[in-house]
Amino acid sequence: MTSARAPGKIILFGEHAVVYGRPAIAAPVDQIQVTVRVTGLPEHQSGVRVRSPLMGIDSELGEFDGDDPLAAALYLILEETQTEDPALQIQIESDIPIASGLGSGAAVTIALARALGEHLNRPLSLEQQSRIGYKVDRLHHGTPSGIDNTVITYGEPIYFVKGQEPQPIKAAAVVPLVIAISSRPSPTSESVALVRERWLEDRPAYEDMFDAIGHVVDSAREDLQSGKLPELGTAMNANHRLLQRLGVSTPELDTLTGAARAAGADGAKLSGGGLGGNVIALVADGKTADVADAFQRAGAVRTIETRLRA
Ligand code: PMV
Repeated sequence: MTSARAPGKIILFGEHAVVYGRPAIAAPVDQIQVTVRVTGLPEHQSGVRVRSPLMGIDSELGEFDGDDPLAAALYLILEETQTEDPALQIQIESDIPIASGLGSGAAVTIALARALGEHLNRPLSLEQQSRIGYKVDRLHHGTPSGIDNTVITYGEPIYFVKGQEPQPIKAAAVVPLVIAISSRPSPTSESVALVRERWLEDRPAYEDMFDAIGHVVDSAREDLQSGKLPELGTAMNANHRLLQRLGVSTPELDTLTGAARAAGADGAKLSGGGLGGNVIALVADGKTADVADAFQRAGAVRTIETRLRA
């Protein structure tokens, strides 16, 4: 049996504007993971049997719909590992909430690429894993920037500009964060399509907002690298206001971010596509339990504490 894992992720700064060429900062979340286990099939059997209790899947690869992203991931991985006559059983487990901006789709693809590459004795490089993740994300939501597959593959905080080499970021101080999952799952395709529609209606206004987000990202990068946590919190609030103006926040996400600030967070913002999904708060040590409580009272269905390592 071979097993492999891939973490969830959050976008700290710059979602949506990153699709339009501005920078963004993302980090892995190791507290939530996809785990894939691969074994062979009994002798004289062939094919690929996929089981995922969470996704309600127990099927042969050939039975999936033609445009199913999980099937697409498997076909791409079999091609990349030059596997012609597979005889595999695959079990997928995950505690990453689905459609919550936490990278569950990309994490499934990357954990599959890792586990199958190992099992088939053709380990895939990080570059190959990330490229397959990108191709599958394109099926999920058309025009991905590539930030999800990149941060999940490399497993460390990155400064990311579409089409460029990701740059690792080293934080000068530990950054404690609390993530809240809102009550509404939200596929990234919906929020990305909404922003595109509005950008097409009023390009100058949207380009200005993307520029403003890009400036927040660049100053936040400096704050991270010099360990200025209160300033980083202020940058999160500024980024959230710009995401409200883009039209991807909701009353629930505003209530959650407001509750976190009122409970003592240095800053809070939605993270990922928005219109639902998750929010993150930067919280000084000692106040994380208060903020997690405040999130729950404001309607979060789950909270996750994580930290960026210094
Ligand atoms: O997958 P999500 O919801 O974290 O969204 C990724 C961030 C976006 O900027 C909204 C889309 C993208 O491809 O970068």
